[in-house]
Amino acid sequence: MKQLNVGILGLGTVGGGTYTVLKRNASEITRRTGVAINVVQVADRNLANAKALAADVEVTDDAFAVVNNPAVDVVVELIGGYTLSRELVLKAIANKKHVVTANKALIALHGNEIFAAAKANHVIVAFEAAVAGGIPIIKALREGLGANRVEWVAGIINGTTNFILTEMREKGLNFADVLGEAQRLGYAEADPTFDVEGIDAAHKLTIMSAIAFGMPMKFEQAYTEGITKLEQVDIKYAEELGYRVKLLGITKRSDSGVELRVHPTLIPEKRLVANVNGAMNAVVVKGDAVGPTLYYGAGAGAEPTASAVVADLMDVARLIDATSAQRVPYLAFQPEQVQDLAILPIEEVQSAYYLRLRASDKPGVLADVTKILGDRSISIDAMLQKEPDENETEADIVILTHITVEKNMNAAIAAIEALEAITGKVVRIRMEELAK
Ligand code: HSE
Repeated sequence: MKQLNVGILGLGTVGGGTYTVLKRNASEITRRTGVAINVVQVADRNLANAKALAADVEVTDDAFAVVNNPAVDVVVELIGGYTLSRELVLKAIANKKHVVTANKALIALHGNEIFAAAKANHVIVAFEAAVAGGIPIIKALREGLGANRVEWVAGIINGTTNFILTEMREKGLNFADVLGEAQRLGYAEADPTFDVEGIDAAHKLTIMSAIAFGMPMKFEQAYTEGITKLEQVDIKYAEELGYRVKLLGITKRSDSGVELRVHPTLIPEKRLVANVNGAMNAVVVKGDAVGPTLYYGAGAGAEPTASAVVADLMDVARLIDATSAQRVPYLAFQPEQVQDLAILPIEEVQSAYYLRLRASDKPGVLADVTKILGDRSISIDAMLQKEPDENETEADIVILTHITVEKNMNAAIAAIEALEAITGKVVRIRMEELAK
């Protein structure tokens, strides 16, 4: 029987899960592929742990020993980060080894360089586990939806923030109260600001955008806004109006360019994706032929992520003897067809909005606010005015608008904030229907 020899870099949560799944399901995997997938070497800084887990495998604390090992056909990179991992992956490719990685930061930041090197060396670089953990969204976008012109992709692609937002809504807690618990549950990145500031989601969105539209990775141009400033009161008001607040990664193609943005977003509660709770992930992809499609599952964790890593290894096992032309291109499109599409700055993005303002409870304030919006052709969709609490003279006004261009809304907000009757800043959250 054909053999595929694997070297694993990093035997932590995902590496351990990968090793376990490969062992437990070995016969089923071989029935599917016709290939025996063997782990022949593992590198981890914690030698004792690695030896305890992978007792029958050669273990080293030198990752370069694995990428330089002539017996290894495919390197599985699970160490994270994007400095050492970049070096190791490029070295593995130079040594004509195939690479499977779960590393979203590495692909989002250095994917263009890595794919160029992989093409030159005729090796596979597979990265299903880098986006939404166990959900096979890369395969769906790249192959299952290949007949479509993809119009947009919107996803809950960070479990930590989805867990925090779910707790805030269900228990009426504030952001700071829930953060610690999310970290304790082990979904968070080594640096949790990557989760709560939307950077992790932007890495994953960048990858989806590249394969949805056939363009290079453009992480540095992604607009990223996290959930740290989100207030409990806005989650409550949104709910009163029939919406849920989710941290969404959104990428859309229009004639003027590509939107690439991560931010808290109001979604109608009747959408399935609005009901994705806890640490779960979900991605909606709109194709011109198929319409909106939804992919749901665990976006993190040992075995869910291992599920994607092992599926990639199975692809390598099947395609190892194929020519580059017979393989699915890295970015879904033929390399010479990858287009350098322009990313729209956030000021040019089109969105509907939720606005909350604090206003003196006196005649004419609402008329002034609606005039500012009307003067800029911003149409109001719904409005909510809360009665001031006893002994208070100011009230919250919540406005939902129809779609406008962001720079127009920026000008309107500046004018509203300049009104004498308005106290403090206007809270603005973008809103998406995700219907068509
Ligand atoms: N920190 C990530 C999350 C882990 O919370 O979704 C998976 O990439």
